[in-house]
Amino acid sequence: MSTHIGAQMGQIAPYVLMPGDPYRARWIAETFLEDPVQYNDVRGMLGYTGTYRGVRVSAQGSGMGQPSIGIYAHELFADYDVQAILRVGTCGALAESVHVRDVILGMAASTDSAMNRPRFGDVTFAPAADFELLRHAWDVAQDKLLPAVVGGLFSSDQFYNPNTTISSTLAGYGVLGVEMEAAALYTLAAQFGRRALAVCTVSDHLLTGEETTSAERQETFEDMIVMALEAVVR
Ligand code: HPA
Repeated sequence: MSTHIGAQMGQIAPYVLMPGDPYRARWIAETFLEDPVQYNDVRGMLGYTGTYRGVRVSAQGSGMGQPSIGIYAHELFADYDVQAILRVGTCGALAESVHVRDVILGMAASTDSAMNRPRFGDVTFAPAADFELLRHAWDVAQDKLLPAVVGGLFSSDQFYNPNTTISSTLAGYGVLGVEMEAAALYTLAAQFGRRALAVCTVSDHLLTGEETTSAERQETFEDMIVMALEAVVR
């Protein structure tokens, strides 16, 4: 057991899909994995392990925000020898070229979080995705004709951000979407010498106000999970 995950060593697969919502972890396990076994319910942060095309894969909730994913990702890497974490979630679009239902593969993650200050002091670390995972996810999207785009994410500590200009400033620097976890995940993967990728469907558009319906969100979420799982087994 680790501090926040009630699994024995060996119960968690080397590859972990990580949605923010623990019920999504259960849904991923029940919908896509064969013989899923629940290994965690500490704090309701459900985790399951099963197989996908013969490869062991886990689905583990992260909660919302960088402190929360930071705890779970740290323990997965440090205590369970997890090799790769793929965050699967939603994001808001910042760029005109991106549309709701697109999937953003987060190549890098800017952040307004202070979480890395104790690590790097005055240096601004650039959290980045694992190239192989990114390339595999991109290849899957091309093969399956899924609407993927590759670019920067903004991992914000604020869902309700009173600074409304920051989104357009970042969009001006080519950042495609805003979410709340990727920068912490990429930083931890770098710390432990492991691999990470954030795959995010666009649920809303901050410039145009466009939103997805819950039926559309479900459908695009399914496409995204297939993209992430196929990237793992490639
Ligand atoms: N902000 C932060 N996270 C998000 C958003 C957003 O607008 N949309 C989906 N996840």
